[in-house]
Amino acid sequence: MEKYDVAVIGSGPGGYVAAIRCSQLGMKTALIEKYDTLGGTCLNVGCIPSKALLDSSEHFHNAVHSFADHGIDINAPKVNLPQMMKRKADVVSQTCGGIDFLMKKNKIDVLKGWGSFEDATHIKISNEDGDKSIEALKTIIATGSKPTMLPFIKIDKERIITSTEALSLKEVPKKMIVIGGGVIGLELGSVYGRLGTEVTVLEYADSLIASMDKSLGKEMRKVLKKNLNFNIHLNTGVTSVERKENEVHVKAMNKKGEEELFVSDYCLLAVGRSAYTEKLGLDTIGIKVDERGRIEVNEHLQTSVPHVYAIGDVVRGAMLAHKAEEEGVFVAEHMASQKPHINHNLIPGVVYTWPEVAAVGKTEEQLKSAGIKYKVGSFPFKASGRARASNDIDGFVKILADVNTDEILGVHMIGPRAADLIAEAVVAMEYRASAEDIARICHAHPTFTESIKEAALDATDNRALHI
Ligand code: FAD
Ligand code: NAI
Repeated sequence: MEKYDVAVIGSGPGGYVAAIRCSQLGMKTALIEKYDTLGGTCLNVGCIPSKALLDSSEHFHNAVHSFADHGIDINAPKVNLPQMMKRKADVVSQTCGGIDFLMKKNKIDVLKGWGSFEDATHIKISNEDGDKSIEALKTIIATGSKPTMLPFIKIDKERIITSTEALSLKEVPKKMIVIGGGVIGLELGSVYGRLGTEVTVLEYADSLIASMDKSLGKEMRKVLKKNLNFNIHLNTGVTSVERKENEVHVKAMNKKGEEELFVSDYCLLAVGRSAYTEKLGLDTIGIKVDERGRIEVNEHLQTSVPHVYAIGDVVRGAMLAHKAEEEGVFVAEHMASQKPHINHNLIPGVVYTWPEVAAVGKTEEQLKSAGIKYKVGSFPFKASGRARASNDIDGFVKILADVNTDEILGVHMIGPRAADLIAEAVVAMEYRASAEDIARICHAHPTFTESIKEAALDATDNRALHI
């Protein structure tokens, strides 16, 4: 029987990054994956394909709505959905292929099949050729997540779909109902909204992207209505979803307690994701899960069996690829007796709509409920020369800083290239910068980053220069 220092179960961004770092640190490493391709949700049916379609649909939207304004006259563009999907599939397969290369380069044994614990140091790998077992001194569980279901919905994968099917539709829907105004709902809703679908979002909470700073959801709602004609119903809880031939009938309760009927040709369910531990054999070795099915871990990401670690979507915290990656590196270094560090407060969150949304640190709502006194500095993109040049004037940057020390506690933005801009805020906060530190740093002109400096100037003592 083959013996390994470490076995990693699951090849998503948590698992494959953990495997690379283990190998770099001299451990003999196996990576176990039940799918044919490596890369997990993120590369196969998550981050990468969704961003590929977001980019393609954004080009189309600009061709229809912005080119003429820029002085570019073209014949009315048409969507070639099969080509758009083919390009997406090519991007996915190249990216997954890159992980195969990295595994070979790092001399990691990739074992294809379903991994399950036989006991605390033996893992069975099952595939169509049968079962085989390996011995592993340590194991990292990185089995990720699956879409959360609602009890009354039957996903038929044709018209009542999850994000996985929404990434491979064969036609542009005429109308799509999106249940859940969170990250997936708004990103995939935007893809089809830009291609001409009439999108209706039904959201249970009183705001879009409700877990982020409330000001972001408010601006997002305005922009999606204005730019993509989204129909947005907040405070609306879906009660039934029924397929009737080529239509989907969705009933929902609005905030007045009245039932409303919505009809469309497609319905996307996007109400969150749940930890995935099916047939992993956690009970066999006594690994505990919490009330939401997530594997319980301590501050070192060790499970209740100390030489078994768990990372990424299968444990508590943000369900994000970069969080899973950080945790992958963390556990490898902890196993090697190093003293790694992760600041879970500084994991940035991004929504790849247009304008993009990005945030790090505490929201105003969190600061208020913790009784922390803060000041607010903000700057609208409409006052930025760079934003006017590209005609991306929706949105703002908002900086929250401690009222006494001026330390930056949270940065929240919606606007052009916010996904990239947020890195400046993360670096600043990792080094515990004050708003005045950012305000005194030279930012190139004209760039979108100047809006961060202006918001910092505003937070410092209301001395923004361009508002
Ligand atoms: P996963 O990526 O889910 O990987 C788990 C792997 O484990 C899978 O390959 C699975 O097959 C395998 N596995 C499970 N059980 C077993 C077993 N018993 N044996 C063998 N293998 C097993 N995050 C971002 O940060 N940015 C984004 O832009 C972004 N976009 C997204 C878009 C969509 C549509 C979705 C659905 C998600 C998106 N996410 C994004 C979230 C991101 O995909 C996840 O946070 C990330 O993939 C989690 O990584 P992970 O390694 O924990 O698990
Ligand atoms: P989410 O948690 O972002 O949003 C789900 C929304 O559905 C919530 O606002 C919730 O109030 C609402 N909801 C729940 N039950 C409902 C009901 N019965 N009726 C109407 N609304 C209801 O989850 P989502 O969008 O499914 O994404 C899952 C995860 O994937 C997220 O946690 C996110 O971290 C990750 N992801 C990240 C992306 C990124 O980083 N850009 C992109 C896509 C997904």
